[in-house]
Amino acid sequence: MDLQNRPLKKRPLFSNRLSIITVAAGSAIGLGNIWKFPYITGKNGGAAFIIVYLCCIALIGLPVLISDFMIGRRGGKNVVGSFRALAGDRSPWLFGGFIALFGSATVLSFYGVVAGWSLGYVVKAVSNGFAGKSPAEVGAMFNDFVTSPIAPIAYQLIFMSITAGVVYAGVKKGIEAFSKVMMPILIGIIVLLCIRSLTLPGAEGGIAFLFKPDFSKLSAAGVLDALGHAFFTLSLGVGTMITYGSYIDKDENLATTALQICIADTVIALLAGIAIFPAVFAFGVEPGQGPGLVFVTLPNIFVQMPGGYFFCILFFLLLAVAALTSSISMLEVSVAYASEDLGISRKRATLFLTALISGVGIICSLSLGQYRESLTLFGKNFFDLADFAVSNVEMPIGGAISVLFIGWVLKRQKSEEELTCHGKIKVPLIAAFIFTAKYLAPVGIAIVFLHSLGVI
Ligand code: TRP
Repeated sequence: MDLQNRPLKKRPLFSNRLSIITVAAGSAIGLGNIWKFPYITGKNGGAAFIIVYLCCIALIGLPVLISDFMIGRRGGKNVVGSFRALAGDRSPWLFGGFIALFGSATVLSFYGVVAGWSLGYVVKAVSNGFAGKSPAEVGAMFNDFVTSPIAPIAYQLIFMSITAGVVYAGVKKGIEAFSKVMMPILIGIIVLLCIRSLTLPGAEGGIAFLFKPDFSKLSAAGVLDALGHAFFTLSLGVGTMITYGSYIDKDENLATTALQICIADTVIALLAGIAIFPAVFAFGVEPGQGPGLVFVTLPNIFVQMPGGYFFCILFFLLLAVAALTSSISMLEVSVAYASEDLGISRKRATLFLTALISGVGIICSLSLGQYRESLTLFGKNFFDLADFAVSNVEMPIGGAISVLFIGWVLKRQKSEEELTCHGKIKVPLIAAFIFTAKYLAPVGIAIVFLHSLGVI
């Protein structure tokens, strides 16, 4: 069947600028900001790492985000369909679409597991499960929880069902409406947590850690972590922002919208740092604890702080809410493809893909526990393998495809039309953007990619 000419139902568009920013920032702001950013900042020594991270967002993250939006809006379809519309039916660039489908499904499979842990921790926090426990006991509790065969999977499935419910309801009635309710809640909670953390005696140490750079603490690996994380936190390279871009109205200024999303994402990551590190320093805990920072270190701190019971619940609720507005954006990539290009109804596509992705997620979860020995491939358990395959392989390739496509394939005149809304608005720095898309971003991405594979 000729897919290009098949009559499509009229596609939905996000209602207005604020909706676009809310939904796309909802995708960008997630576990990456509240779980990962604080712990890699802790691991890499604080302020100096944050400066490098900000440069990565501005110099590479922003241009890739703009490129993704341009491909989506100009192509006007799902991730594969957009590449097809712009590059032609048999073009090798379609690979960019298919690899994004694979990446978005893979990322959701393990993201759902970690998000499930957050839900589980909301329940633990409500039942005051951390009270009276020593730090070692809280650590053991985390370990027992994530390695047990039933509980984390049950929470993962609850989380995936909520994700599916929102996507099932559609782009406007589901994704947009849900994000508009959740994002203000998220901001409210994070501000409350920051106030609590900053008013603890001894909070200054955490602020200095976050904002007073000491470049001697920065390593080459830290720079690469910063760039890799810039990709993850902006949801780049897996078709999420291409798909969302296709729901953006033709008259919106893409560059400004993308800039505002980068700013919102960065502000929330910094607020997460402000909610966490002053408390970490106030209680004299080591900041560089790695992935256990929010699931082990923080509950330990909450049990000691005045009002801790309440703030602990709020914190894990925050994680779960942030994760949900991101997970819907991951599922939407393949649902949009299946319903537009494969002719499956949106509802069926949602159910089928959720089942498939959750199934892979269950394997990831089991590979951390009882089946640690058997569920491995290339020397990694499935959970780490899924994370590695997406963060270190698929995302850099997908991101590079977007910028290379914009830099080298799409005609300059078409790029300008997209950026200026056919001449209706003035956009500065177009030449600088094209230069970045052609050279700077691909080279930066290639360096991270080769390093993550151990080649350089
Ligand atoms: N950006 C989100 C976060 O920081 C996660 C996310 C959403 C994502 N969509 C994505 C990550 C697509 C990779 C790819 O948590």
